[in-house]
Amino acid sequence: MGISARLRTIAELVTPGFRAADIGTDHGYVPIYLLRKEISPFVIAADLSPGSLEKARENAERAGFLIEDRKDTETKICENGIVCRLSDGLSEFIPGEVDSIILSGMGGILMNRILRDGADVVQSAKELILSPHRDVDLIRAYAEENGFEILEDLKLLDKKKQYAILKIRVN
Ligand SMILES: C[S@@+](CC[C@H](N)C(=O)[O-])C[C@H]1O[C@@H](n2cnc3c(N)ncnc32)[C@H](O)[C@@H]1O
Repeated sequence: MGISARLRTIAELVTPGFRAADIGTDHGYVPIYLLRKEISPFVIAADLSPGSLEKARENAERAGFLIEDRKDTETKICENGIVCRLSDGLSEFIPGEVDSIILSGMGGILMNRILRDGADVVQSAKELILSPHRDVDLIRAYAEENGFEILEDLKLLDKKKQYAILKIRVN
């Protein structure tokens, strides 16, 4: 698995020890990197697309990190590994399941919708790692409106394309 500089930068912004969710995970590279580098003990790899989630599941299983998704928060806090979950944004999440929410590779409008619809899950987390491929100003405005502090606001050049990556403190 060759993880790009963009995805590595995103993963390395996650605070060590935090349980994470990667929304729109696709291949599951970020969750696998988080487990391999022992940054996060537990990651929920989520996607709206069954085909994408299947890729993530196969990759997580091959890497030896796949665990069963039990809808039981107490169990998850004790477990180490990656669970794969079909979810439109944060709709299938329970508040308190994760500390760090990652959204990357989608536009700022969709990210905004996901964060607003999942406000209870966002409020229960500690940080957001967001890398919109367009409309990044919407994300800065979202943070300001909610009183969330932008801890990092990076511009990364990867394969001749520029990416914005923000780390935002929620609580
Ligand atoms: C371009 S890929 C980005 C993959 C990876 N996050 C990255 O940055 O390379 C976008 C992924 O987001 C997923 N996606 C789109 N809308 C979504 C939603 N509402 N909820 C969850 N996943 C979504 C797609 O199925 C796809 O797998």
